Amino acid sequence: MNKVAKLEIEGKVYELPIVEGSEGEKAVDISHLRQQSGYITLDDGYGNTGSCKSAITFIDGEKGILRYRGIPIEELAEKASFVETAYLIIYGKLPDHAELQRFSDLLTQNEMLHEDLKFHFEGFPPNAHPMAILSAMINASSCFHQRLLGPLDDETFELQAARLLSKVRTIAAFAYRKSRGLPTIYPKPVYKYTANFLHMMFSQPFQDYELKPEIVRALDLIFLLHADHEQNCSTATVRMIASSKANLFASAAGGVCAIWGPLHGGANMEVIQMLEDIHREGDDGSRFITAAKDKASGKKLMGFGHRVYRHYDPRAKIIKKQCDDLLAVLKRADPLLDIAKKLEDAALHDSYFIERKLYPNVDFYSGIIMRAIGIPIEMFTVMFAIGRMPGWIANYKEIMDGQGARIYRPRQIYTGPTLQHYRTISERR
Ligand code: ACO
Repeated sequence: MNKVAKLEIEGKVYELPIVEGSEGEKAVDISHLRQQSGYITLDDGYGNTGSCKSAITFIDGEKGILRYRGIPIEELAEKASFVETAYLIIYGKLPDHAELQRFSDLLTQNEMLHEDLKFHFEGFPPNAHPMAILSAMINASSCFHQRLLGPLDDETFELQAARLLSKVRTIAAFAYRKSRGLPTIYPKPVYKYTANFLHMMFSQPFQDYELKPEIVRALDLIFLLHADHEQNCSTATVRMIASSKANLFASAAGGVCAIWGPLHGGANMEVIQMLEDIHREGDDGSRFITAAKDKASGKKLMGFGHRVYRHYDPRAKIIKKQCDDLLAVLKRADPLLDIAKKLEDAALHDSYFIERKLYPNVDFYSGIIMRAIGIPIEMFTVMFAIGRMPGWIANYKEIMDGQGARIYRPRQIYTGPTLQHYRTISERR
């Protein structure tokens, strides 16, 4: 028998279906509540709203669990590459040899940008933020692949997905080179995904960048750890845009804009700026912790807290270890890592953070690795966006495949003026 929840409003009882997910998550389906009762539900910030059913990523925020298509993030981080993980997220299964080869070949075949698209970079001022360029250029890409904007059969989707996933790193590297007044470096088909990106970022026309395997692996891992995270702000944005049946490039461009914000992907930049400030001011972190607890200070401990995790973010654990390993291999010390560890230790023993269940999130240590790799701070959020692309693509596909899917269109409780009438300008005071 189907389970129902009962809701009583003004003496009338409404039966609402209960929906259960494959991991036992439970929801009350209120989709017909307004029709039945005239009431909607109100959930500012959607903290308690399931906007969809999805088979891509599972998170248990209380226990600190993250799985892509059922596979724990820890196993993927140890054994898989970003490209293999991207395949898993997009197609729902780990690829066999032939599938992985075909996917990798498609990425290689689509790594170049249309030469005319390249000219669009010239229109941006030298200090343009790379996230603005990334979003604009992903959107502009749809002008160059118009054949792919029609009905979404499997072949078209495969090509769209490969184009976007491959070209995003070329666009990102070109955006960086443009922002620094450097000549663009074309991709090399012999390199794998992440190595090719580093080559486009750091090679010079007269000298190839030396690809250290540890650095390639560290960045590949960062991409992998960011590859999906269920209905976060940017993914929900991508789904929202896709629900209007906009194309994949337009939907992903919107995702880039959403992830840019400092409370979302932009936090990785903010963490480093915070650590640099603390370092410059000679604080051991304790003054900052005091300020972060005081709402009037306007400060937050960036890289801490998460809407879903009320436990240590499992990605932060992996990144912290990777951070230690990479700095050891490169024989580098970073004073910001010491400050970060002190802040973490202080916060994890402080009642303010304990009571609110605030733990390090994925952004807390990722910036320190990126600094060690040589990625400039303004490109940190771009790295996040490249990594998140498989998740956006997979979520886009779920929307497009949705049986009878409706356009996303939340309601609101109106709090503005009641009926007013137009007054001519001389009647207004
Ligand atoms: N430092 C200090 N206090 C914090 C922090 C923080 N980093 N995060 C939350 N709090 C406090 C809030 O002020 C609030 O206090 P109150 O109950 O006394 O009012 C309480 O903890 C609960 O926080 P919420 O605001 O309800 O948390 P919410 O789920 O809305 O926000 C968010 C989550 C945006 C991540 C928040 O924790 C934050 O701003 N963190 C810093 C920015 C950051 O690291 N963002 C990256 C998130 S991960 C990602 O996007 C990849």
